[in-house]
Amino acid sequence: MSHVIPYCPRPLQWQFHSRRTRFCVLLCHRRFGKTVAAVNDLLRAALRSGKSDWRAAYAAPFLGQAKAVAWDYLRRFAGAVPGTRFHESELRCDLPTGARIRLYGLDNPHALRGLYLDDIVLDEPADMPRSVWSQVIRPMLADRQGRALFCGTPHGTDNLLHDVWEQAGREGAAGGWSRFRFPASRTGYLPAAELAAARRSMDEAEYRQEFECSFAAAVRGAYYAPLLEQAEREGRLGDVPHAPELPVHTAWDLGMDDATAIWFFQVEPGGVWRVLDYYEASGEGLAHYAHVLESKSRPAGQTDATADGQDAALRGRGFRYGLHIAPHDIRVRELGTGKSRLESAAALGIRFVTAPALPVADGIDAVRRLL
Ligand SMILES: Nc1ncnc2c1ncn2[C@@H]1O[C@H](COP(=O)(O)OP(=O)(O)OP(=O)(O)O)[C@@H](O)[C@H]1O
Ligand SMILES: [Mg+2]
Repeated sequence: MSHVIPYCPRPLQWQFHSRRTRFCVLLCHRRFGKTVAAVNDLLRAALRSGKSDWRAAYAAPFLGQAKAVAWDYLRRFAGAVPGTRFHESELRCDLPTGARIRLYGLDNPHALRGLYLDDIVLDEPADMPRSVWSQVIRPMLADRQGRALFCGTPHGTDNLLHDVWEQAGREGAAGGWSRFRFPASRTGYLPAAELAAARRSMDEAEYRQEFECSFAAAVRGAYYAPLLEQAEREGRLGDVPHAPELPVHTAWDLGMDDATAIWFFQVEPGGVWRVLDYYEASGEGLAHYAHVLESKSRPAGQTDATADGQDAALRGRGFRYGLHIAPHDIRVRELGTGKSRLESAAALGIRFVTAPALPVADGIDAVRRLL
């Protein structure tokens, strides 16, 4: 049986439909056509599966929002399949094949508990509680190897959309993930005059967030935000491959009460820096960080036997270390043992060199020049 759905995907929508994988993140500018593409992607999966008990959910942060953004599209596109029935009170559509698509709001995630899902769309995950994905939705997909699509516009980095964007980058196709980023300057879907008008009515950071899919924009007033945005625009942020012939240096901020942060980077002979990895934790002793370093020095892809297999930080990357750089005050700070942290680290096999004690403004300036 074949049906004509009144949807003619735009070229980049088509690119998404044809290349997406089981888990997918679709990062688009406002009015790209994410919701239309997402609804049609579900419908296509529903009709192709052939399973009578196929179940899918379309979830927005609030139920009212799910109804406002997706119900009309569902009626329009699924309504073209003869025999489809719509249950307005449940916001559910039953296809003649027996497949069902239902709208949900994550203001009430309990409505989802106890179900299984073959497919789900999470529309605007930047506004959803992070735990809903890991604790409620991801387990629902396990039975039947269900798919998940996250589609939205960035809203800073401290939310679910940014989490899954990063996860998709880390895990890639091998982990079942794919990701797409479609800024307005690339799609050409919005008329130039319209974009110019939007730009005049918003500040630059807002515009870059809403129309250029920039995660950096929301961190207002951050020292490095404009430079990070520029790096993002110029395609300098992404998966930076590890050059096995070069040593990997680490630079540390050793927190006493706050987090300890470690950057992993390489410097090419020509002076180009490759920043490969980052690790942060708090409330851990030096032995923990020594273990992280050691894990990453194992052959690429090998996972730490003590990790649960999910912890990307402990995945082997084949790093061969060069310098380990610590803050200048590592000599004076004392642990409970009475030894300096420099000595404690050396006992664990990490021989630190210390960074020069620069005035704070000079340090910020050095980072700016690097970026
Ligand atoms: N393939 C298409 N062909 C024609 N019109 C389309 C297509 N895809 C989307 N549209 C139209 O573009 C507009 C925006 O679509 P949609 O609501 O899916 O965008 P969105 O990216 O979800 O927007 P928002 O940022 O507001 O959530 C709608 O008017 C929709 O009908
Ligand atoms: Mg939308």
